[in-house]
Amino acid sequence: MRILVTGGAGFIGSALVRRLIEHSDHEVLVFDKLTYAGVLSSLEPVAASDRYAFVQADICDPDAVAKALKDFRPDVVAHLAAESHVDRSIDGPGAFVQTNLVGTFVMLNQTLGYWRGLPDVEKAAFRFHHISTDEVFGSLGEDGFFTETTPYDPRSPYSASKAGSDHLVRAWGHTYGLPVLVTNCSNNYGPYHFPEKLIPLIIIRALNGEPLPVYGDGSNVRDWLFVDDHARALQAVFETGTPGETYNVGGNAERRNIEVVTAICTILDRLRPRADGKAYADQITFVADRPGHDHRYAIDASKIRNDLGWTPSVTFEQGIEQTIAWYLENKTWWQDILDARYATQRLGVA
Ligand code: NAD
Ligand code: DAU
Repeated sequence: MRILVTGGAGFIGSALVRRLIEHSDHEVLVFDKLTYAGVLSSLEPVAASDRYAFVQADICDPDAVAKALKDFRPDVVAHLAAESHVDRSIDGPGAFVQTNLVGTFVMLNQTLGYWRGLPDVEKAAFRFHHISTDEVFGSLGEDGFFTETTPYDPRSPYSASKAGSDHLVRAWGHTYGLPVLVTNCSNNYGPYHFPEKLIPLIIIRALNGEPLPVYGDGSNVRDWLFVDDHARALQAVFETGTPGETYNVGGNAERRNIEVVTAICTILDRLRPRADGKAYADQITFVADRPGHDHRYAIDASKIRNDLGWTPSVTFEQGIEQTIAWYLENKTWWQDILDARYATQRLGVA
């Protein structure tokens, strides 16, 4: 199959592309604007493959999208391109509305035109797979899980823009018959994670001897999934999922933020002890809470498990150890990002 991956230079997109090139026969075209979050070196492991190609373009540009569709003739569009960081959406929501809503509209409209021109057999096999988030469901109390039928209740500019994009995708499926798939996934972590997000930010700041900022009292809960397991889930969904369906994807690994930060510190104490012999946990600093901070996310992933046979392959303890080891061994990848001063205001408190 030919897979067009928007946002393929990002954290999850690049994991998907590395997986498709290394573990399948599919051909891949990455369509990515290379915003501050697009990191071409994340695609270096597959750059030499003749089944991989890259185009730098904006999903909000209809002509660029139409050209990529016409030239590459994909069987699947895997749509991951988005503004993805909640804190940035609070500071500047405009880019989130533009890329996540307008960009998804442009992707849908151009894909619809392309799809309508396909021969019947290819038309029936085609899939538009929209990659979304569990944040569209809002915030849970201490109990319960998000299922595919949980009502939408987005509460940040980021989650509202993703919720709107999910609705657009389902509308294009319902009204125009475009074969769409939607996945809503929990928090990912793993190698090549941009250093503004909690887990890489804590690892890097710990190694640099800087304060480790925990928002509020650290009691907020996220459900963590290793990124390569998410990539496996995405492949299973666009290869074998039923058009029109939604699949929730989660790690069954709920942790309070303070537990995550403490776990990272404990592993670093063992793998790379501080020169002064003290514990990395001494660097933990409680800082002002995120405005509107959702308390808890937790996914019920029984539908994708029962229908498509997908389950996570690693536990949080295995995945976080692997992730920390990767950051220790791949300093060049993240140091290049820090040196390029990618949006320094979001690389942690000073
Ligand atoms: P990311 O921020 O790491 O990467 C986003 C990518 O999209 C970057 O390569 C960027 O250059 C590209 N991009 C942004 N705007 C673009 C535009 N206008 N045109 C073309 N390319 C553009 O994001 P991520 O964490 O890899 O998330 C990927 C997708 O998965 C997003 O849709 C996000 O909402 C969703 N998601 C993320 C998580 C998570 O934990 N990170 C969980 C569930 C769902
Ligand atoms: O749930 C899926 C979502 O997970 C995705 O849709 C988003 O794209 C992705 O960014 C992520 O959103 P979060 O807001 O949960 O991720 P973040 O890494 O920004 O924060 C994780 C938790 O850690 C959250 O409760 C806020 C907290 N936090 C974050 C940072 C950056 C801190 O306590 N300190 C920090 O410095």
